[in-house]
Amino acid sequence: MKRSENRIFLSTATMHGDEEKFIKEAFDTNWVTTVGKNIDESERMIAEYMGVKYAVGLSSGTGALHLATKLAGEKLYGQPKPNEGTLQGHKVFATDMTFDASINPVAYEDGEAVFIDTEYDTWNMDPEALEKAFEIYPDVKLVVLVHLYGTPGKFKEIKKICDKNGAIIIEDACESLGSKYKLNGEWVETGTLGGYNCISFNGNKIITGSSGGMFLTNSKADADKVRKWSTQSREDAFWYQHEEVGYNYRMSNIVAGVVRGQIPYLQEHIDRKKAIYERYKEGFKGLPVQMNPYDEEKSIPNFWLSCLIIDPEAMCKQVRDERRALYIHEDGKSCPTEILENLEKCNMEGRPIWKPMHMQPIYRNNAFITRYGNGRGQSNAYIANDKQLDVGMDIFNRGLCLPSDIKMTPEDQDKVIEVIRECFGK
Ligand SMILES: Cc1ncc(COP(=O)(O)O)c(C=O)c1O
Repeated sequence: MKRSENRIFLSTATMHGDEEKFIKEAFDTNWVTTVGKNIDESERMIAEYMGVKYAVGLSSGTGALHLATKLAGEKLYGQPKPNEGTLQGHKVFATDMTFDASINPVAYEDGEAVFIDTEYDTWNMDPEALEKAFEIYPDVKLVVLVHLYGTPGKFKEIKKICDKNGAIIIEDACESLGSKYKLNGEWVETGTLGGYNCISFNGNKIITGSSGGMFLTNSKADADKVRKWSTQSREDAFWYQHEEVGYNYRMSNIVAGVVRGQIPYLQEHIDRKKAIYERYKEGFKGLPVQMNPYDEEKSIPNFWLSCLIIDPEAMCKQVRDERRALYIHEDGKSCPTEILENLEKCNMEGRPIWKPMHMQPIYRNNAFITRYGNGRGQSNAYIANDKQLDVGMDIFNRGLCLPSDIKMTPEDQDKVIEVIRECFGK
């Protein structure tokens, strides 16, 4: 195995030069604050690209998700006291295999997430499991839906179930900016499908602001509310006057300069990420692995991260505790731990699949629902149960994220492919 001289990254920012120009403009005009032309322009450009009326620039995707969750909570359950969250005493259904920033806002608002298992077709929320969840908890009115790694989930099926149960969707499109979904014969952007929608400009995303995020909506009232909350909830008064809890979540005009410079390159980034995905697919031919799947008819992913999953029969023994992992090498077989270890030895950055939320220590006691119903406490020492299912954990155990950096050359990528082929002795 050959060590790469330059580090091959998972996903880093790809700059083009315009970003610096807009930052300089902010300095030159002294709009070095949370107001300015870069914010106005990046909001305008994103709203236009996404086909929504309003985009509100915020300091992070997490901030956008928090305010979306708060809006949904107030709409459903009314305005709480300042020291209480809007979701107090209420459950929320949520994507299980995701980054914890999708879910934590439910806790910020005092709600309780109920995790919905994953399906194998797109690695997102399983509509069948969601249906089961509504049977078990018919009072739930809010669903947090994520499009993992830039692959759109089964939105149509999920929306139908939510509509039947009168539930609102918060769409977390933080990883899927630019991904498209076919809805009623028309291509629409992920990040415009939910009742409340969020995107991220974190440094590792498809385009970046170094950090930052946006809340997207067609409702003027919702956009105004998010803008107000994000700037400390000031009232229209001569002094600082407050009737609601506020946050310091507004996007900075410097960050917005980076976003403004990046937006015109979104499609180019998607094309380059797609080329990386296709190249891996070709390079892994003959190996007992599959790429992260997507629905070719109903979706166009942004291919933010390329991932692979090892066929069950080609997995060597691997165990993971809460922090570390061990494996036993077997000829012709491999596992994510072995592959990630070898990539690291060769100066290449991979990453485990996002560990499902229902297995995270922080959320271990929250409910978890599979397509068979309650996913907790189903094993029994005396009764065989082949209906036990935990798709998220299975993908976590057999899958991994591959170096997907746009600046990786085809030669770099060949080296990554070679390391992985060697893990399987090919
Ligand atoms: C699925 C998902 N949701 C939310 C976030 C939070 O976005 P941010 O880092 O901008 O707060 C991220 C990434 O960071 C993410 O991957």
